[in-house]
Amino acid sequence: MTTTIEVGMLGFGTVGSGVVLRLTRVAARIERTQGLRLHLAAVAVSHLNAPRAVQLPLGTRLTDSIADIVDDPRIQLVIEVMGTVATAKRAIIAALVSGKSVVTANKDLMATAGDQLLALARRHHCDLFYEASVAGGIPILRTLTDSYVTDTVTEVTGIINGTANYILSAMTASGRSYQHALTAAQRAGYAETDPTNDVTGLDAAYKLMILSRFAFGQALTLQQVAPVGITNITTEQCQSAACCGWQIKLLAEVQRHAGHLYCRVAPVAVPTSEALGQVVGVQNAVAIQSEAIGASLYTGPGAGSTATANSVLSDVIVAAQHLREDVRATVNEQCGSLPVINIGELPQAYLAFSASTIMELQYYANEADCSIRPVTANCYQLTALTAAQRQRLQARLAIQLIPIMGTEVWSAPVDMSMPSPSNVAI
Ligand SMILES: NC(=O)c1ccc[n+]([C@@H]2O[C@H](COP(=O)([O-])OP(=O)(O)OC[C@H]3O[C@@H](n4cnc5c(N)ncnc54)[C@H](OP(=O)(O)O)[C@@H]3O)[C@@H](O)[C@H]2O)c1
Repeated sequence: MTTTIEVGMLGFGTVGSGVVLRLTRVAARIERTQGLRLHLAAVAVSHLNAPRAVQLPLGTRLTDSIADIVDDPRIQLVIEVMGTVATAKRAIIAALVSGKSVVTANKDLMATAGDQLLALARRHHCDLFYEASVAGGIPILRTLTDSYVTDTVTEVTGIINGTANYILSAMTASGRSYQHALTAAQRAGYAETDPTNDVTGLDAAYKLMILSRFAFGQALTLQQVAPVGITNITTEQCQSAACCGWQIKLLAEVQRHAGHLYCRVAPVAVPTSEALGQVVGVQNAVAIQSEAIGASLYTGPGAGSTATANSVLSDVIVAAQHLREDVRATVNEQCGSLPVINIGELPQAYLAFSASTIMELQYYANEADCSIRPVTANCYQLTALTAAQRQRLQARLAIQLIPIMGTEVWSAPVDMSMPSPSNVAI
């Protein structure tokens, strides 16, 4: 027996078009295998008369009124793929309050107002799913929910912003300047006209805030993540690091150690031999370390019309099954309340980029009580520095420090007043 679910969609841009395309293509299969007919009743857009790359199915209404969707009592499930924060939040609240389940791809919104919206969904016995909000086409949130239910995650490390990874890869491999690589990304459709969120690390921070909720039952705040972007990274730095076995990557990390959560979004020198060091271009990757499985890696497209639409539609199928069976997902309450520390506060080794001579650097390194080793011209490797040592060095020298992945000294809880480690040669 087939159950028909009435669906409304907000937005018909990159992701919305992919949803219509994929839904049209696989409708018969969904009906055959899931016993569900997903009827796209209406789609809301901003510009009613704008040309559309994809045709709506016959009988689907196009409207420029969000209320036509969220207030329509026949619509049971709303797909929100229009972006924005305030407008989307109002629309999702209206949909949930009137008992509609919601699927969204909106990371900005789910990172900043996720707890409030999830609580509202629970109160109104609705589903609120957002697989597509993190790493686009990689089914990482459902994997964390379903496949790690009997496991315990200890670390999540991701390359989760395709634009930043494309820029850094182009600077490393073809020696393009930051600006040239950004322009190439924009021409190829990999970067927005306004790329601020991607290059400042804000987009990766939002995704990390969501990943932490799924991995550790504890969302992070933007202040805790304190993202550092890639705008100060130069081609010379990328290429010097690559010469000596590191790839500079915008890494998003959250780890649990000794009753604390540690997080960071920042450019990090990743060993080229590591799987994450080999993720290039717009590809995304999420590496998970857990007690039972050990190390696992999930890679794939972090954006794109049909890849992201696939994540949206997999959520839609689950929400539709729940509507048919009159059950809803048991969304875990935010159960974690671990103290959060930025990984930048831990002692760790750094790549240092400076125009100063090794003699000059050695002088200040001695003052800061650390060892320094030339790697290439202008690039040096420093032994583990505490945050205080790092600040002392940076106060004296115009020096850019890129942390080296995996060199953190774990002595949690971090004692900020810890004595400096002795001067150990590398
Ligand atoms: N693009 C990706 O690969 C990707 C990947 C993962 C997640 N996401 C997320 O998915 C969401 C959508 O992204 P997108 O790239 O598809 O955006 P987009 O191409 O800019 O499309 C946005 C759509 O929403 C409509 N819209 C905007 N404001 C509206 C309003 N007030 N009322 C009604 N319709 C409105 C627009 O209408 P008009 O067409 O008439 O202008 C357009 O159809 C965002 O939250 C984004 O972060 C995107």
